[in-house]
Amino acid sequence: PIEARINDLLNRMTLREKILQLNQYIVGKNTNENNIGEVLNSYPKESGSYIYFSDNATLRNQIQKQAVEETRLGIPALFGYDVIHGFRTIYPISLGQACSWNPDLVKKACAMAAQETRMSGTEWTFSPMIDVAHDGRWGRVSEGYGEDPYTNAVFGVASVLGYQGNDLSSSKQVAACLKHYVGYGASEGGRDYRATDISNQTLWSIYMPPYEACIKAGAATVMSAFNDINGTPATANYYTLTEILKKRWKHDGFVVSDWNAVEQLINQGVAANRKEAALKAFSAGTEMNMTDNCYAEHMEELVNEGKIKISQIDEAVGRILRIKFRLGLFEKPYTPEYPETQRVLLPENRKLAEKLAEESMVLLKNTNQILPLNQKNIAIIGPMVKDKDNIIGSWTAHGRTKDVETLWDGLEKEFTGKATLSYAKGCEFEGNDNSKFNEAIEIAKQSDIIILCLGEKRGWSGENGSRSTLALPIIQEKLAEALYKTGKPIILVLSSGRPIELCRLEPMCDAIIEIWQPGICGGTPLAGILSGRINPSGKLAITFPYSTGQIPIYYNMRQSARPFDKQGDYQDIPTTPLYEFAHGLSYTNYEYGELKASTTHIKKNETVNISIPITNIGNRDGKETVHWFISDPVCSISRPIKELKHFEKHLIKKGETITYTFTINPIRDLSYVDSDGKPFLESGIYYISVKDKKIAIEVVE
Ligand code: IFM
Repeated sequence: PIEARINDLLNRMTLREKILQLNQYIVGKNTNENNIGEVLNSYPKESGSYIYFSDNATLRNQIQKQAVEETRLGIPALFGYDVIHGFRTIYPISLGQACSWNPDLVKKACAMAAQETRMSGTEWTFSPMIDVAHDGRWGRVSEGYGEDPYTNAVFGVASVLGYQGNDLSSSKQVAACLKHYVGYGASEGGRDYRATDISNQTLWSIYMPPYEACIKAGAATVMSAFNDINGTPATANYYTLTEILKKRWKHDGFVVSDWNAVEQLINQGVAANRKEAALKAFSAGTEMNMTDNCYAEHMEELVNEGKIKISQIDEAVGRILRIKFRLGLFEKPYTPEYPETQRVLLPENRKLAEKLAEESMVLLKNTNQILPLNQKNIAIIGPMVKDKDNIIGSWTAHGRTKDVETLWDGLEKEFTGKATLSYAKGCEFEGNDNSKFNEAIEIAKQSDIIILCLGEKRGWSGENGSRSTLALPIIQEKLAEALYKTGKPIILVLSSGRPIELCRLEPMCDAIIEIWQPGICGGTPLAGILSGRINPSGKLAITFPYSTGQIPIYYNMRQSARPFDKQGDYQDIPTTPLYEFAHGLSYTNYEYGELKASTTHIKKNETVNISIPITNIGNRDGKETVHWFISDPVCSISRPIKELKHFEKHLIKKGETITYTFTINPIRDLSYVDSDGKPFLESGIYYISVKDKKIAIEVVE
């Protein structure tokens, strides 16, 4: 019936009414003190969609009333917004979420965000971002799930399922939008909005897999990327948008451009003017034009001149109407106006955000088991200790700093009655002012141990948040040096939106915890990890290079022609990164047993089970994630050193053994893709590895 209803509407709509469905305007008022202010544009009542900046349904319902009751056909509008890591209950940034290796938890967090969003008048989120990123200088590395395609695919699917549930028309779900299709993470030098140079082989093996997986999972919409792909902007790319997304993957939702991305085709040098930009973007398969109004202004002329066929317009409008029907907007165009206390920041929402923050934190270093803390006098130092503005993270929708639990709040709650805490800020995030160093040194001298909380401001990552270096500003490193001279042990707590260059800080610190930007509930989990109430279980979803100059470095690089000693590598720094992908420590120890395979020879259409028993030999319970990698040492093309194909996280009680299993499906897990994305499986030996254990499997004809 949806298809019949779409056709019925298309038969009754005028060309102008159709074109307005393709255009997205901005409306609303963002009351978030950290975000965009009031944006109230003039818009036609027939507009198809709005970016909605308000945090409640009142204005939305007024605008919707105009669409439904004051236009000829009463087609409801679609309201979208960037709900990236929570709507009002802000949980960790996606890069942190991936380090939890707990997709079920991420799915729950997205379902919670969906409920807050839909109950507040928005039914479409511009999330998840599933752009694989190999360069930590790129600001948006914080918004994706790290450096690995499989990880981005798994967490992308989890978030799509969390946002959308089984029924988009439910008053608790929202439509997802996969972004930024495609290759945005390859932006040259980590600069935002730049060109990319991606071979087809890399496009298909690194950048496309998360999109394909999320389309299969039913993602309703897709956003085209700002970048070009080998010279053709993603927003005007017929191959990726139409041939692949629509024809090969059979996506039946729609593509929205990024903000002003249609007009930006002029800057990118492929369109002479806004009209040509509209023609190129639309003909390639970008159905909805975000904010720059090129479609609204020029589409009619383009149709009248025969450059765009009415059948193309109908196809595009049909895709947008399809999502509106699936969202149930025709039946229920209005959102009930719930009081804030019923729709956001519910106690269970905060608990979930806290749990995800806990599992995302990664213990990078813990010399001589200095953690958990048993000291009585603890100096808590650094610009991040009492910070609320930055720790919440970038792109926080309707998050408010007043909702943030600071690190200090969490520590005070945890340690009151058990230890004496003293505080000094030490320095600002940046600048040259070292006048607060002395106060910090004084409290450090009177303490047994220093918790040093450093990191990045929120604007240093996210869109347009690229940096030329992964290092913290010099003032923060100098503070660490000054404290190191006191001889007191230092526990470094890092809050950042990217991997940080730690080569100078690491030798001064006895322990290091990366807490990312945990959102509004980071204090309690950090304090729990420091006190030992919580056993950390996060592991890195992105490599920490030794220094910025070591970029690019990621775990699935292809093999060097001389992979021994330091041959070919930078002579002035180590060959290996400081912390590898999948690195993360626990307060307990796990013993990895022998890998066993159900068979050692398989045909291409057979499967094999590989298993490994893991025993918790320490003296406390813990959650251990096992990462399963494959490698293909001899193939027609040079393949990555190893590729992640599966992971699993389980609670292993003290003294308990759990057997982890990976069932290998050769076509899915062992094949490589050609330059058009077609899988190839060659016969021969493959290695399956877990940590330093590996086992060979032979695929036979
Ligand atoms: O969704 C975002 C996108 O990620 C970057 N540019 C703006 C869009 C809408 O706010």
